[in-house]
Amino acid sequence: AVTRRLDYAPPAFWIDTVDLSIDLDPAKTRVLSKLTVRRNPDVPAQPLKLDGDELNLARVLLDGAGCSFRMEGEQLVLENLPEGDAPFALEIFTTCSPEKNSKLMGLFMSGGDFFTQCESEGFRRITYFLDRPDVMATYTVTLRADKQRWPVLLSNGNLVDAGELEGGRHYATWHDPHKKPCYLFAVVAGKLVAREQRITTRSGNNHLLQVWVRPGDLDQTEHAMNSLVHAILWDEWRFGLKLDLERFMVVATSDFNFGAMENKGLNIFNSKYVLAKPATATDADFEAIEGVIGHEYFHNWTGDRVTCRDWFQLSLKEGLTVFRDQSFSMDMAGTASARAVKRIGDVITLRTVQFAEDAGPMAHPVRPDEYLEITNFYTTTIYEKGAEVVRMVETLLGREGFRRGLDLYFQRHDGHAVTCDDFIQTMADATPGSALAERLPQFKLWYSQAGTPVVRAQGHYDAAAQTYTLQLSQSCPPTAGQPAKQPMLIPLRLGLVGLDGRDLPLTLQGGALLHGDVVVLHEPAATLVFSGVTQEPVPSLLRGFSAPVKLQMEATPEQLMHRLAHDSDPFNRWEAGQQLALRVALAQLAAGGEVAPAPLSDAHLAALRAVLRDAALDAAFKALALGLPGESYIADQLPGNVDPQRIHAVREAMRRQLAHALRADWQWAWEHNHDTGAYTPDPVSSGRRALAGLALAMLCLAADGDAVWPGKAYQRVKDAGNMTDRENALQALLGCGHPLAARALEGFYARFSHEALVVDKWFALQARAPDVAGSALPAVLALMQHPDFTLKNPNRARSLLFGFCSGNPAGFHRLDGAGYTFWAGQVLALDAINPQVAARLARTMDAWARLAEPWRGAAREAIARVAAQPKLSNDVREVVTRALAE
Ligand code: ARG
Ligand code: ZN
Repeated sequence: AVTRRLDYAPPAFWIDTVDLSIDLDPAKTRVLSKLTVRRNPDVPAQPLKLDGDELNLARVLLDGAGCSFRMEGEQLVLENLPEGDAPFALEIFTTCSPEKNSKLMGLFMSGGDFFTQCESEGFRRITYFLDRPDVMATYTVTLRADKQRWPVLLSNGNLVDAGELEGGRHYATWHDPHKKPCYLFAVVAGKLVAREQRITTRSGNNHLLQVWVRPGDLDQTEHAMNSLVHAILWDEWRFGLKLDLERFMVVATSDFNFGAMENKGLNIFNSKYVLAKPATATDADFEAIEGVIGHEYFHNWTGDRVTCRDWFQLSLKEGLTVFRDQSFSMDMAGTASARAVKRIGDVITLRTVQFAEDAGPMAHPVRPDEYLEITNFYTTTIYEKGAEVVRMVETLLGREGFRRGLDLYFQRHDGHAVTCDDFIQTMADATPGSALAERLPQFKLWYSQAGTPVVRAQGHYDAAAQTYTLQLSQSCPPTAGQPAKQPMLIPLRLGLVGLDGRDLPLTLQGGALLHGDVVVLHEPAATLVFSGVTQEPVPSLLRGFSAPVKLQMEATPEQLMHRLAHDSDPFNRWEAGQQLALRVALAQLAAGGEVAPAPLSDAHLAALRAVLRDAALDAAFKALALGLPGESYIADQLPGNVDPQRIHAVREAMRRQLAHALRADWQWAWEHNHDTGAYTPDPVSSGRRALAGLALAMLCLAADGDAVWPGKAYQRVKDAGNMTDRENALQALLGCGHPLAARALEGFYARFSHEALVVDKWFALQARAPDVAGSALPAVLALMQHPDFTLKNPNRARSLLFGFCSGNPAGFHRLDGAGYTFWAGQVLALDAINPQVAARLARTMDAWARLAEPWRGAAREAIARVAAQPKLSNDVREVVTRALAE
């Protein structure tokens, strides 16, 4: 049944304390739950309905005596409860089977160890409970297990007791001093070892930090621990938020549906976001670990101390926490250039994934209004667009105002379950007179309106009057259930670039700019006049990507090249290059006929060469600036009738031309960047590895039968000193289709077959390999027969299936529709094992309705085939039903 935001009602009962005794056993785990429950006096008397899911109920006791109960679906209903507000004791005894739990929600097993995942609604798979985030309780947990098989027993809070039991078993009792909703509950039991570190923070408090992993993985925990220390210090420095626990634990598991989970004091992570050593993890992995460790740690305040009233408010914690982890990573990156590189990466994700989501069947507001399955709403809209909304708040308030707002937020709401409205109201209340406070109701449309707003801009220079006039207008396309949209509050950071490449002074007639360079657009249309403009400028709008909108503005190639060469805003400098490339691609796609073999103009190539050779630019920036927009991003710019094969062909033609025309420059870039010495994952050396990797790929692509560069790449796969260089070399070889690639893959596998995270990379690289003569799908089918492949492990399933269905457009969008048939089969197979992962795979077909024929018809048929399956999970059902409604 659909759940609706406006149907929210406070719980009829509160649960104050939870005392759990868990006897861990893979086949049959026994859970005794003792609850102190009382009626919520603000709500009319009604039965107590406890949520459950796949539980076996053995006994229920009320104040120590047997009592009547009934089942209503999966809910346990108790009607004959004491009247009045006095607390009563409930004892519920259930069992569950962790070894049969392939959904990985609730209590499950990974590599013989026990783990839990309770967000959003996994706690009800452990015991009957009021499984909703606004019910907060104090937890005491006793774990019992065989001592030899599960020597380490962990839960939230502090260890208060431990000891031996009969029959080789042992126990541990944990008490969490902080009240929490049940989605933050966690248990871990296993053969684990910890890297430990003590830190004393600026406030003088001492804490024990632990990173728990399997024995043998300890040498891969240093980076995670360092990231955790940095995150703790950063949150105290930047926001005054202190660690409120004596002990803070991070645990890695190799079977996990998502990235990680912020359980109070006991964060559980997908091992991909914990384990790293230079030999097996890439620069991107190191960066992601820092970001995710930061993210989960920052949830301790934005999520755990202040949590969500209901799941429609998910972005309250996720948007804010992504904003915080992005800010953390930027501060850790250091230089202005490294900060910009981080920002560009975040915007690429937002524009390729979130904009597509906002334009497709799953479009929803940052605060959704309804869902069938909440897990489907852990989306890039909730997370990344939510973070952009918080970033706009910071832009409107300034850094100090933002800090004042957050201070008030914790003053008001610490220990409570609140809403997005509470957050934004607090930010406005803390900053009277701010651009946010002045137009709060309008700003709040960012939470309620789905879809990506479009800002159109037109400039006009009047030489005689020395004025530059900018006409701005905004609109937002209709989305499901929201046919008409109201104008939004859009902070536009801007500059006017002069002939010499420097910014001209900005004087706005009849108004002031926020912070000197931000226009707050709130009308459907506005005209801005800048005076004292002594020369015709090149406008640079939406600097730093100051709002999650699509900017449409006419620009000549010369203007774009001028900005690519000079824009003082590194984000827009990069963006000018992307626009240039995008225009070429779109012109080729509009032209029809044969795909031109060399679509880039000489001037365009010269501009790119200049960037590549610019001694003042960081390698990381160059690698981004020389990269072409992705195929799905190009597809998103088209009105419809998307021919994925033609987009691929056009982009490939551009890439080949870039490879050939700049061959000498690539060689130069390779020579200057390929040796970064002893590995450290810092932004400067990782940038050099990225540029060297791109150069190598280009040189292989331009090899034209000459074996020199493929030979070098092959050699590098064999003897690179770190995984970044090795993976880049393997990708370069695969990318040019050289016969050495097969041997390189074999050697790579032989060397790393015992490193699960590297085997994932090995699958993913092949899933994304070029589709030479329709070879991609048969290769994927063959890989599914590989002894290391399994649908049961989410990382493995994702590496191959997502790698192919979303990372290999040319291979996937086959003319014969076989890619889509494969997709349908895998969605169904996965759904029987793990609906959450299946629903994610299902979403790779979101853009089907914009495809041209024959793809469109074949895609529809494949989706309909999935929808016709009677035993579908709610997760997949919601995705395919919405898709078919397009
Ligand atoms: N709160 C976690 C995070 O963002 C994600 C948990 C998602 N899990 C789920 N079953 N939906 O860090
Ligand atoms: Zn999160």
